[in-house]
Amino acid sequence: MENKRIKVAVAKGRILEEVCDLLSASGYPTNTINKKTRQLIFEIKDLTILACKPADVTKYVDLGAADCGIVGSDCIMETNYEIYEPLTLSIGKCKMVLACLKNKKLVLTPGMDLKIGTKYPKITKAFFAKKKIFPEIVYLNGSVELAPAVGLCDAIVDITETGSTIKENNLKVVDSLHDICAKLVMNRASYRIYSQELKELALALSNKNKKIFLLIP
Ligand code: PRP
Repeated sequence: MENKRIKVAVAKGRILEEVCDLLSASGYPTNTINKKTRQLIFEIKDLTILACKPADVTKYVDLGAADCGIVGSDCIMETNYEIYEPLTLSIGKCKMVLACLKNKKLVLTPGMDLKIGTKYPKITKAFFAKKKIFPEIVYLNGSVELAPAVGLCDAIVDITETGSTIKENNLKVVDSLHDICAKLVMNRASYRIYSQELKELALALSNKNKKIFLLIP
């Protein structure tokens, strides 16, 4: 039976680039997806790739606008959607850290006053609640490393991959919250309707490692 076309929401930026590498290694022609284009929808064999803002991927999947998505575990943890997370990928590896200005002494003590700049309020609150600290959260959409330098917050919670942004903005890592990696997530209804297509996609993303079938519910 012929495969149905499935919609895959992919986090734009580093994850989309790495997904293209994985798909291309599995024989998908991904050369139409390049950094320069402003196009957001790509037809690649039997996949429709939707290039989404990372924080929106889980929403597209939960609401059924996409059958599945590929996004960092940071964005998955930050939302409350009921979507399947059947496969952890070998891409998008980074860390979520607490960082402050290099010359600042930040000792975490229960009940302390603290202002944290972050794109991740839910994860941040959970981390500090365990330490009995209830910080004021300054929600930021990006370029979070800028905030401590101008006194907008005492410290930040953000992801770091190479460490360059932290270093070049005169910050230091104070604590590590989570190891992050990209995951394949699936809409619950699509999983049942398109199980064959989604398994084939999972297989392509895993470089044909057949063990992945054990991970899909
Ligand atoms: C992410 C993250 C850091 C940066 C870390 O930002 O929020 O700012 O990458 O990467 P590094 O450790 O390799 O320097 P992104 O590029 O996604 O843009 P944003 O700041 O607009 O969120």
